[in-house]
Amino acid sequence: MSTHIVLEEPTIKPGEEADKSTRRAFLVAAGAAGLCYTAALAYPIYRYLASPEEMASSATAVKEVSLKDAQKLPAGSVLMFKFGTSPAMLIHHADGTWASLSAVCTHLGCTVQYEPQADRIHCACHGGVYNPYTGANVSGPPPKPLTKFKVAVGENAVEVSRA
Ligand code: FES
Repeated sequence: MSTHIVLEEPTIKPGEEADKSTRRAFLVAAGAAGLCYTAALAYPIYRYLASPEEMASSATAVKEVSLKDAQKLPAGSVLMFKFGTSPAMLIHHADGTWASLSAVCTHLGCTVQYEPQADRIHCACHGGVYNPYTGANVSGPPPKPLTKFKVAVGENAVEVSRA
């Protein structure tokens, strides 16, 4: 007894050709969506790894900033300004002393705020707290102090420079 297997030539019916092109279009669309999804995930990771030191490095070329009329800043208040491309603070403390600090949180790079009533610098992102005189990290997640600048109060301006 012998068995014969007969192979037939596969024939493509008109409906199957349409199925193939639909499947191809689906795979292309899925691949494009996957790339977009990967980019959306990768960019925040890149920002996390790059911040805040890499962002601050773009401002290191600037050595000094002159703040015209800032000597008139009332005691107990703050002037926000840009040191290069980074936000910074000039604080005129209630006791008459001056301090200038970077306003870039050393945790993940949020902009910090001076709170004179609490006598602290606060980062609202994750609750980091800094000393408003020295920039020292006092509590919360910040791993390092804020960068402190030198302050020279003149008759017409306040000069802020890298220490
Ligand atoms: S970014 Fe400031 S505490 Fe997290």
